[in-house]
Amino acid sequence: MKGNFMNDYKFSIKNMNLFYGDFQALKNINIDLNKEGITALIGPSGCGKSTFLKSLNRMNDLVEACRIEGEILLDGADIYKNSIDVYQLRKRVGMVFQKPNPFPMNIYENVAYGPKTHGIKDKAKLDEIVETSLKGAFIWNEVKDRLKSSALGLSGGQQQRLCIARALAVNPEVLLMDEPTSALDPIATSKIEDLMQELKKKYTIVIVTHSMQQAARISDETAFFLLGELIEKDLTKKIFTTPFNKKTEDYITGRFG
Ligand SMILES: Nc1ncnc2c1ncn2[C@@H]1O[C@H](COP(=O)(O)OP(=O)(O)O)[C@@H](O)[C@H]1O
Ligand SMILES: [Mg+2]
Repeated sequence: MKGNFMNDYKFSIKNMNLFYGDFQALKNINIDLNKEGITALIGPSGCGKSTFLKSLNRMNDLVEACRIEGEILLDGADIYKNSIDVYQLRKRVGMVFQKPNPFPMNIYENVAYGPKTHGIKDKAKLDEIVETSLKGAFIWNEVKDRLKSSALGLSGGQQQRLCIARALAVNPEVLLMDEPTSALDPIATSKIEDLMQELKKKYTIVIVTHSMQQAARISDETAFFLLGELIEKDLTKKIFTTPFNKKTEDYITGRFG
């Protein structure tokens, strides 16, 4: 259930440090991410946005040299505790990447894949999940007559919405999106932005974007990262009008080095 309180956080990150070998990519990060609405992560390339995002569903586990200190609480429970089932975690916290990455299989199977691996075998149930997920990702009408065609035949924007449908199919609580529109044209981008306004009613959304305009258009809160540090997080309106920190102001006004 979603809470109705202003201070109802989905994630609380406390004193987080992240290292790739000797290199410290994130430095003493303390941040709470709202359950409701969209949080945008902005900042120059290489400042640690993707690293931070991936730490929220332990995608960095795949990087051998990666080491994390501190606490990352999801609904109050530390996701880096040994007792956590990473597989279940990634079901709860889904991810969409910069480059659409549909599986080389048909459209139906792309969406049914996750539920199948989680043990759903009933054909009628799978049909229902596939339809609901594709509708939820605003792509059902475009693909309903070609569900058995290869997903690789779709346009980039359609592929990305299919990847969103695939993420929705396992019934997640959070969607992490890493520059989900940066490979798309303006029309496809606008469709995904509209979609996100719908998705935020049901899911916690955290999006990395290199576009400040996009952050300003779609997000409720914005966090500004610089050189591995969180400079500030606040209401998006505030960040883009009267930020607290001079570094944020320099960045959003384009005065940044
Ligand atoms: N797998 C990795 N191994 C070593 N260093 C990495 C790895 N991934 C990212 N980095 C480094 O961590 C820093 C932050 O990268 P990243 O999180 O991708 O930044 P952003 O998404 O903001 O562009 C960069 O200096 C990058 O080179
Ligand atoms: Mg990145």
